[in-house]
Amino acid sequence: MTDLGDFSGFSADDPDADLSTDGEADGDASQRDGPNADASTDTAADATDSTVEPDDFQRVDRPDIGQDRGIGTLSASAGLVVSEDDRDTCLRAYVTVSNRSAVRIGSYLLAQYPDGERLFCRITALEYVQEFRSDDANEIHARRAMRTQGIDEQDYKFMATLDPVAVLYDDGGDLKRRMTDRVPKPETVVRPATDPEEIKTGLKMPEEGVFLGHLAVGGEKVRAATTPPTVDYRLKDDYDSGDPLVFRHTLVAGGTGSGKTHAAKNVLRQYLGRTYEMSDGRSPETAVVQFDPQDEYAQMHDDNPNLPDETARAYEAEGVEHGGYDDTVAFVPRVGNATYAASHHRAEQVEFTIPFSMVWDSKWLVAGSSLNDNQYGALRDLLDRFFRQHGDSGTYREFCSFVDDPGLREELHESGRVHEATFDAVKRRIRGFGNVFDQDAPPITEQIHQFVRPGGLTVVPTYHINDTRAKETVVLALSSLLIDQKLSNDPVYDRIKETPLVVGMDEAHNFLTDAESVQARKVIGKFTDAAKQGRKERLGLFLITQDPQDVADPVFKQVNTSVVLNLGDEDAIRSVNLPSSLEGKVPYFEKGQMAVYSPDNSEPVEIIGLPHCLTRHGRD
Ligand SMILES: Nc1ncnc2c1ncn2[C@@H]1O[C@H](COP(=O)(O)OP(=O)(O)OP(=O)(O)O)[C@@H](O)[C@H]1O
Ligand SMILES: [Mg+2]
Repeated sequence: MTDLGDFSGFSADDPDADLSTDGEADGDASQRDGPNADASTDTAADATDSTVEPDDFQRVDRPDIGQDRGIGTLSASAGLVVSEDDRDTCLRAYVTVSNRSAVRIGSYLLAQYPDGERLFCRITALEYVQEFRSDDANEIHARRAMRTQGIDEQDYKFMATLDPVAVLYDDGGDLKRRMTDRVPKPETVVRPATDPEEIKTGLKMPEEGVFLGHLAVGGEKVRAATTPPTVDYRLKDDYDSGDPLVFRHTLVAGGTGSGKTHAAKNVLRQYLGRTYEMSDGRSPETAVVQFDPQDEYAQMHDDNPNLPDETARAYEAEGVEHGGYDDTVAFVPRVGNATYAASHHRAEQVEFTIPFSMVWDSKWLVAGSSLNDNQYGALRDLLDRFFRQHGDSGTYREFCSFVDDPGLREELHESGRVHEATFDAVKRRIRGFGNVFDQDAPPITEQIHQFVRPGGLTVVPTYHINDTRAKETVVLALSSLLIDQKLSNDPVYDRIKETPLVVGMDEAHNFLTDAESVQARKVIGKFTDAAKQGRKERLGLFLITQDPQDVADPVFKQVNTSVVLNLGDEDAIRSVNLPSSLEGKVPYFEKGQMAVYSPDNSEPVEIIGLPHCLTRHGRD
């Protein structure tokens, strides 16, 4: 509708003039034309417009916009430019009065070209501009405004600035997208995008894949003209278009209580039971091993008692896996006298201990965080010597007596291999693992077949362990066992090598921080290698953290998909590298709202996760 058309319906003397703002999209037209204008769609409005407008007004031909109702039209008055240089691009739409209160920054719109191609765009700014030259910064204006309710919308233009995302076009029946390379005509009607196919194509979102949530803008789901009236956001999970993104690693970041674990459980639940082709041609179901510092994931064995049947059926219809996962086993580390209470879940429990022999391959496990390079060299020598003597069955206790031998200390000192002072320092530092290694439970190395199961979820709870160093040692020992076997060309445990594997880690910042110590360097190096080779070896890292800024950079850089829930901390927000349009929203996110940044999956978008946990979550 032209500006003049709007103005022609305006009468300053008409006490009811304001009413037109309450009408439908084109209610102003129906006001003017009485009962005949009942069908107040744009098409009807087109017809009625021409009867009110002065005959000598030259109209620009408008493309056929079909039945869709728009929110306004593109305007050329301040320039209508699509340019290679984003800074020169200028796309602005005039928004009609009745639509003004409903439009939001971030909303997705479509503008059609005359030949049927469509420009898919996003609102980036909303602005009131004066329609008539007047000064509203004066006493009379202000006093009048203070006595009346609301402004006269028609005194103002309401302009939406649009960011062109892509051109949509038909290619032999398929809808495709390409970069914006043409400018739409002035006065083209812009309408909200409501067709999931158009939206998904516009945002490069895959049709199939692992369900993460529903597309949203400003915390509201994008409403589609379909049943259900939502647009599902999924992560690519096949080999047709690149690799399944799970093997290019995922980060779930969010402040305390923002819904990380709820979201992570819902995503992990989707991966359970999925199959992936291995290099030998087999396609086993993936195994998931989840490190669980708060003892929350074994509950994935159980149904969520608060998920109504009807909702469950709706999820099912949408292709969302839900319900407790039978093949869930809690692998409970035996550490000292700590006892594990499992009243909150019904998953099977299996006890294990870390055999000291695992230290042969991962000597840094007992290096703690305070050994310098020189001391670490000495520790390696000692451990090598010890294991050569004792073989695989060497225990931690035996190692402690081994280093207690004054003869050894003297021998190493005199041969110039290990200085006495260094020997003493090492001896002190390796104390304190007595509750970790070789406890009264079967060693993990004898239970690999149960630990890593195709189609199985293994959860390693560590909440019952009080000793932080013991907790860390257990998690690092198991995770490096998995990584080493996955990356090895000559694995001891074929089971690990030959099973697609997702390694989940809640509170990942505790294990993957960048620190100066030998141990931190080794861990980061290992996880970085794992991340780099994940695609090839079918190993996906699934990291969950409230302090993304503390996750070491080399690991962080390998993460392809970031899911960001509410974050308050500025450093944390900056560290997740969201595009600025999303970054600003993060501190305002409510539970379940997330930004997804996954360049190989889609344009960066906001989504809302499911309000229900798909399995049990939380303790009553
Ligand atoms: N999308 C959601 N809709 C409704 N409730 C939610 C949603 N996400 C999380 N919750 C609820 O909010 C609470 C906190 O969620 P959750 O345990 O996932 O947070 P968290 O970020 O993991 O917290 P923490 O920092 O303690 O680990 C839980 O009771 C959970 O069920
Ligand atoms: Mg949590």
